[in-house]
Amino acid sequence: MSNIVIIGAQWGDEGKGKIVDLMSEKADVVIRFQGGNNAGHTLVIDGVTYKVALLPSGIVRGKMSVIGNGVVVDPLALREEMDRMAALGVKITPDTLKVSELATLILPLHRELDKMSEEAAGKGKIGTTGRGIGPAYQDKVARRAIRVGDLAEKETLEAKVDNLLLFHNALRKGMGQPAVDKAELMKTLDEAAKIILPFAVPAWKVLDEQIKAGKTLLFEGAQATMLDNDFGTYPFVTSSNTIAGQAAVGSGVGMRSIDKVIGVVKAYTTRVGAGPFPTELFDATGDAIRDAGHEYGTNTGRPRRCGWFDAVLVRQALKVNGVQSLAVMKLDILDQFDEIKVCVGYELDGKKLDYYPMQMNAQASVKPVYETLPGWKSSTYGIRDFAKLPEKAQSYLRRLEELLETEISFISTSPEREDTIVLGNPYGK
Ligand code: IMO
Ligand code: MG
Repeated sequence: MSNIVIIGAQWGDEGKGKIVDLMSEKADVVIRFQGGNNAGHTLVIDGVTYKVALLPSGIVRGKMSVIGNGVVVDPLALREEMDRMAALGVKITPDTLKVSELATLILPLHRELDKMSEEAAGKGKIGTTGRGIGPAYQDKVARRAIRVGDLAEKETLEAKVDNLLLFHNALRKGMGQPAVDKAELMKTLDEAAKIILPFAVPAWKVLDEQIKAGKTLLFEGAQATMLDNDFGTYPFVTSSNTIAGQAAVGSGVGMRSIDKVIGVVKAYTTRVGAGPFPTELFDATGDAIRDAGHEYGTNTGRPRRCGWFDAVLVRQALKVNGVQSLAVMKLDILDQFDEIKVCVGYELDGKKLDYYPMQMNAQASVKPVYETLPGWKSSTYGIRDFAKLPEKAQSYLRRLEELLETEISFISTSPEREDTIVLGNPYGK
């Protein structure tokens, strides 16, 4: 198998976890390269459901799992998640879990600032996961973050904390909030060191050794292209770059070591949190998709907004990632509909657009131009062979390939990993 990056091409929750799990069977190392525990990746293995947020999905199968420098790591959340995994019988050791020393820490003050900022924003809020992701990345870019490896150097840690608090306490004062209790924070860092240092390594070096030994790498994207800090529906995005190019930056693997990019989409569209969503449905069809697809956040339990497939948005996402092949998830959720719509263009002020504009008002007011395809009205649940799909479902998928200018190599018909149609050789170069 080649070294592959898996990314989401919509607004997240596409089913990246299942595809990563499926492909991780053939990979040696699974790597997270951005985001943090805002992700919620679900794996179903032999009827048992595993939900990972910060840990790479490969951990469940005992693969070497790397949390790269591009990730923001909440040590307390990491411990909780490791405990949850242990309760399910998943063994995590310093041989299987490697955390980059260069990764940025999420501290309690980041979680607090996330919530305070959202409250202060009122109606303009982003609808974040509240995990402190944005504030941690802000500190990273502003060069005052505390990183995993800093926990190992006691003599410089306190000065780093003082520098961090200089900023945060001024900000909190301005927001009418109490200052951070420094002694408490030092205690938290002490605890963090115990949790995380056993796993801390120069991950770029570990990965270089793996590459030299001919091992295969699988890069597990979190969030998705429409939540990318540059290419998404800014400011209703996450605070990291989520696209495939980040796999190199966020792990320290040279870009020439990455062979392939696979994009994951749902057969329809969902979004959780605020922001524009051209094909959103506010009617019974939207509710039917939510019910059938169990569209509630893995992580926060929030109901997801649901709508038809947006081929314009996805095509754009595939381009900025350089996606070579696609995984289409949750096809079976569309089984019940008489007609299925696909957005093939937008209209804005009487003009046609073949891409999603960047201005906020324009994003919120484009009208989708739909193509209507006949529904297949029969169960595709669990089908594992393309030829066994109803003809109209096959036509729907073939039409998506045309509109997206990209071939489909996986079609998922249930949460179980075996219920996947594989076309061609997505594992090759
Ligand atoms: P996975 O990996 C869906 C959304 C939040 C919010 C915005 C910013 O499971 O696909 P943040 O907490 O990141 O600052 O929130 O991004 N969001 C996700 N939506 N799936 C995710 O991850 C998400 N991670 C963040 O809802 O709109
Ligand atoms: Mg999710």
